[in-house]
Amino acid sequence: MAIAPHIVKRAKELRAELDQHNYNYYALDQPVIADAEYDRLFRELQELEEQNPQLVTADSPTQRVGTQPLAEFAQVTHRTPMLSLNNAFADDEIAAFDKRVRETLDAAEIEYAAEPKFDGLAISLTYADGLLVTGATRGDGYTGEDVTVNLRTLRSIPLKLRAPRPPVMLEVRGEVLMLRADFESLNARQRELGEKEFVNPRNAAAGALRQLDPRITATRRLAFYAYGTGAAADDGLRKHSQTLDRLAELGFLVTAERAVVKGVDGLLGYYRAIGAKRVSLPFDIDGVVYKVNELSAQNTLGFVSRAPRFAIAHKFPAEEATSIVDGIDVQVGRTGALTPVARLQPVFVGGVTVTNATLHNEDEVQRKDVRVGDTVVVRRAGDVIPEVVRVVIDKRPLHTHAFVMPVRCPVCGSEVRKSEDEAIARCSAGLFCPAQRKQALLHFASRRALDIEGLGDKLVEQLVDAGIVRTPADLYRLGIAKLAELERMAEKSATNLVAAIEKSKQTTLARFIYALGIRNVGESTARDLARYFGNVDRLAAADVESLQQVSDVGPVVAQSIAAFFAEPHNREVIEQLQAAGVTFAETAQRTVDTASPVYNKTFVLTGALPNLTRDDAAQKIRDRGGKVSGSVSKKTDYVVAGADAGSKFDKARELGVAILDEAELLKLLDE
Ligand code: IVH
Repeated sequence: MAIAPHIVKRAKELRAELDQHNYNYYALDQPVIADAEYDRLFRELQELEEQNPQLVTADSPTQRVGTQPLAEFAQVTHRTPMLSLNNAFADDEIAAFDKRVRETLDAAEIEYAAEPKFDGLAISLTYADGLLVTGATRGDGYTGEDVTVNLRTLRSIPLKLRAPRPPVMLEVRGEVLMLRADFESLNARQRELGEKEFVNPRNAAAGALRQLDPRITATRRLAFYAYGTGAAADDGLRKHSQTLDRLAELGFLVTAERAVVKGVDGLLGYYRAIGAKRVSLPFDIDGVVYKVNELSAQNTLGFVSRAPRFAIAHKFPAEEATSIVDGIDVQVGRTGALTPVARLQPVFVGGVTVTNATLHNEDEVQRKDVRVGDTVVVRRAGDVIPEVVRVVIDKRPLHTHAFVMPVRCPVCGSEVRKSEDEAIARCSAGLFCPAQRKQALLHFASRRALDIEGLGDKLVEQLVDAGIVRTPADLYRLGIAKLAELERMAEKSATNLVAAIEKSKQTTLARFIYALGIRNVGESTARDLARYFGNVDRLAAADVESLQQVSDVGPVVAQSIAAFFAEPHNREVIEQLQAAGVTFAETAQRTVDTASPVYNKTFVLTGALPNLTRDDAAQKIRDRGGKVSGSVSKKTDYVVAGADAGSKFDKARELGVAILDEAELLKLLDE
């Protein structure tokens, strides 16, 4: 039956009116009606929709809370990666940042957009034709978790953009957090219910966002502050500050604490002003962020590894507190490194209760002369591991002993070795040391590696101690029956774990390389290696020299990789993993064409090319299997010369090396 036109009209009016009030309340912080009046309008719309379900639209304010809990979060690939920011603490680091920017842009003074650095969780929202379609966590920066149903419950997130002609596609980036006042009332409620209190607003927000049931998220008040865009249609804006203004117009909450400043003095002035205001802000911040305001300048500056060159986080100093050292334990890490750790009397610092603090290595303990019984200053900033800063020597009790590093591994009893040039002492037993084996397995199963859910500390401990699992390959031979025999392991959890292990078989080459736990190979390097080599065999066969052709791989990293693959045991485990069915979705995503004239040829780049940056040119050469070297020698096949080419050009002529210009290079690259 058709719905009467006046009802359709009324529903539309109510939606528009509620949206407007929402915007006034959450984005502008200027409500114009009483809460009770809002509730009355909301109920009226709810009733109309209940009576006429065809009236319900996805962007209706009544549709913020879904009803069905999810089984799990899906993965979302970000259209543009969510990168991180480089950090600075001292004023001179900021001056150095500004200097670099000025030099690169060849400008006398730079205009910056300055903002608070929110201490929450990074989120990316995708709008298609003005409607919110996806909201995702940052994850590893490339793929995150789809938490759309939870984010829809945040009233500071518009379900529909306030624009008559919204962009076809827009990614909005920002931070989800819990306001301090909401955090206090949440904890008051937890206390009344006799439930555990949350440590800080950030943890409370993270917990709320990771709920599989959006109805629970809806009961925790969260806010979203927008601070930028990811992929976006060209909107004609020239400055970051204009992007923020536009986001506010589109219905987002953008902090009023933002400013546009000039030069280092402007930056430091902003830092001090926000620092003075910090305690009175409604949310936690851990510093401020400076971004070069001009978008074209941001483009010119570009990125290094995982962080932009056009922005920097200026952090507030880490919080400190004092506590007493009850003991000094020595932990054995994944690479055998022995780390002395101070066991402390619990102390609240940097937003959490700390009971352990790292002492880094033997030299550090000796330098600081930390002893059992000492009163120490402990420091913790953000998510970093708490550390012992210094001993309060006046409070040292009588009869203490200086710390000595054990000469045998506290876990396996093997000899501890310390090389001349390293401060770190290591257990020499490698994967034969159960501690290293456990850490290696945990790393292999970790979220950013093969992501085996449910394979945590306790379980790895049991599996290794019982001799059931020695290498990652053994995980793929585990059966439900064998697992269920373990203490505290019910059949249900055993079934789940086997399913999680099975699921991990479909992975990516980058994750797999990272999971191997090669020394000095983090996620970013693993990704570069995967892209460059395309499969494990080529990577395993690469020599130190060809490894260094991968961007950001220097001699030390190349040496670690080569040493890893030189070990027959490691190759065996890799073969076993592949035999067990571990496969890579994107293997051979880019295979090197060995017939390309660039393949295996060595290039040297010199001077400024008309269109390509030198990094881009180098990347293109490497993508085709060529090598790029820094100096001209007899081994050089081509020198690519741009404007103002200097001595390298002369050397090339001297040695009779072929010289190309950019156009000739592109032709060789077949572009
Ligand atoms: S801009 C290319 N602006 O800081 C990176 N990030 O290290 C663009 N954060 O987890 C980030 N406040 O969520 C930017 N005003 C702000 C921020 C901010 C907090 C977080 C961000 C990310 C981390 C980056």
